[in-house]
Amino acid sequence: MAKKIVAGNWKMNKNLQEGIELAQSLNEALAADKPNCDVVICTPFIHLAKVSDIINHDIINLGAENCADKASGAYTGEVSAEMVKSTGAEYVILGHSERREYYNETPEILKEKVDLALANGLKILFCIGESLEQREANEQNAVVKAELEGSVFHLTAEQFANIVIAYEPIWAIGTGKTATAEQAEEIHAYIRSVVAAKYGEEVAANTSILYGGSCKASNAPELFAKPNIDGGLIGGASLKVDDFKGIIDAWK
Ligand code: 13P
Repeated sequence: MAKKIVAGNWKMNKNLQEGIELAQSLNEALAADKPNCDVVICTPFIHLAKVSDIINHDIINLGAENCADKASGAYTGEVSAEMVKSTGAEYVILGHSERREYYNETPEILKEKVDLALANGLKILFCIGESLEQREANEQNAVVKAELEGSVFHLTAEQFANIVIAYEPIWAIGTGKTATAEQAEEIHAYIRSVVAAKYGEEVAANTSILYGGSCKASNAPELFAKPNIDGGLIGGASLKVDDFKGIIDAWK
């Protein structure tokens, strides 16, 4: 069975003090009322080391939102997978549509990042998803398949066990427009079938496939009730403890 996961992606929000406060409050809330799923918070680089010290890693896992496509050296401003790992983080988000679109991250660049993250013992929240234009042209299946083939299907089955897939339709991110539970389930089932065709049924059944895009406490129960939706990757609603915990509690 695939692990159930609710992961937060803070994106470029919260200064250091605000981030520490948020992590502390979430840690307290979940220590008092234990979650029924794995919980991950992915923060900006500058928060990682401090937040790692604050949280109970048995309850909350920590992740970065990106890492470099090079191992080390003269790459001013970059942060390597090894550096991320050294903070105590367990995860890294790769392939987010915002990085593909605004920072020109190609499938080849993402492949380098994937390899470095795995080589350094990080698990990967790998994001895939189509634009509105692609959805309207009914190209969503081809898009997500190509994104997997382009950056993670070179992995062995053993390596692939460290990949969590996050399906995030670009038209649903930060727009308030959620995919309906039926729309999400349909493409999640397709994604699982693509993984099964590549790695076999067992690996596919064990792969967590998260939904992301305007997921909130009000729509999470319906989404998570679907057999192929193993949780969520949450943007805006991960920035407030009550909102995020409301989504986590959808697994109760
Ligand atoms: P929102 O939840 O703000 O729509 O963002 C989703 C997302 O991009 C998570 O990675």
